[in-house]
Amino acid sequence: MENGILSDYLPIDSSSLRTDTKIGCDLYLLVETGGNRRFTLYCRGDIIFEDDKKDQLLEGNISKLFIKKEDKQKYFDYLESNFQHIMSDKNISYDEKATIVHSTAINLMKDLYIAPRTGTIERTKTYAYNMVDYIIRDSVAAKSLMKIAVHEYYTYTHSVNVAAVGTLFAQSIGFKENELKSFCSGVLLHDIGKTRISPDILTKKGELTKEEFDKVKEHPRLGVEILKESGVDSINEQIITLQHHENYDGSGYPHGLKKSEIHHSGKVSRIIDVYDALTTDRSYAKEVRPFAALALMKKEMSNCFDKEIFQDFIRFLGPYDPRGKPRKGDVIQE
Ligand SMILES: [Fe+2]
Repeated sequence: MENGILSDYLPIDSSSLRTDTKIGCDLYLLVETGGNRRFTLYCRGDIIFEDDKKDQLLEGNISKLFIKKEDKQKYFDYLESNFQHIMSDKNISYDEKATIVHSTAINLMKDLYIAPRTGTIERTKTYAYNMVDYIIRDSVAAKSLMKIAVHEYYTYTHSVNVAAVGTLFAQSIGFKENELKSFCSGVLLHDIGKTRISPDILTKKGELTKEEFDKVKEHPRLGVEILKESGVDSINEQIITLQHHENYDGSGYPHGLKKSEIHHSGKVSRIIDVYDALTTDRSYAKEVRPFAALALMKKEMSNCFDKEIFQDFIRFLGPYDPRGKPRKGDVIQE
């Protein structure tokens, strides 16, 4: 028996638990008797979660279990290792799956960009490939992911939403399965070079000096270096990492490439990267919702993009606009 205060525990969806596996962290039930709430141990993390345990939950109509807050990492590791199975489980709803897609990716991105561990690049690739498998086999899955990514975009870690939007957009303009996989993985990995730039520069408030900005401009090249060192030899992932700041008119970096000098994947990733930058990391982020970002891109940055791909992007996001068709003054009319 275990008591505890509510804030020490996190709810998890019991449908995400696979039987015949070790979950890796203790699972608790929240029991209420006579107005008193307490947590009681349901299944230890180091023993197999058996069928009868799952059946009991189903019979009792219990959809939520709890884990201790300090075990969050272990639970995310469990979700990531069982990702493919969870995604193909018909008993788990699309919305729950979309939440799992996001929470596992957030965990992964934290490891990748904040506390890099050995193997995170390989994990990111595996994750991206599984996510693409999930969305190309099931159009409802894709819609459910887009719904979260666009309408509740600030609830989740941003790079994940951008990877979802980017991958679904790439699919809509005809990327084939293998290209989609490396595109999704490339979008998740594209700023990895920043891990080799001083955090003092990256988090500096106010304007960067020329020297500091020159350092920041090295991150695409440094990213490719890291990918090569880690054995990521897919050209598409390297191109996205190297070219996501190249502008169509030649004003970008690191090489100032223009028009046809930029690879198709590079052009798509430039659009996705700007959309990402505008909808995140800004003190006025609340003002720049996805559709306002699109309007700003059209109005002030259209020279940065391949016109045709950008028009496709506007058309792609259009149906997800909660206001329906663009209105006069929205500036995103074609
Ligand atoms: Fe970047």
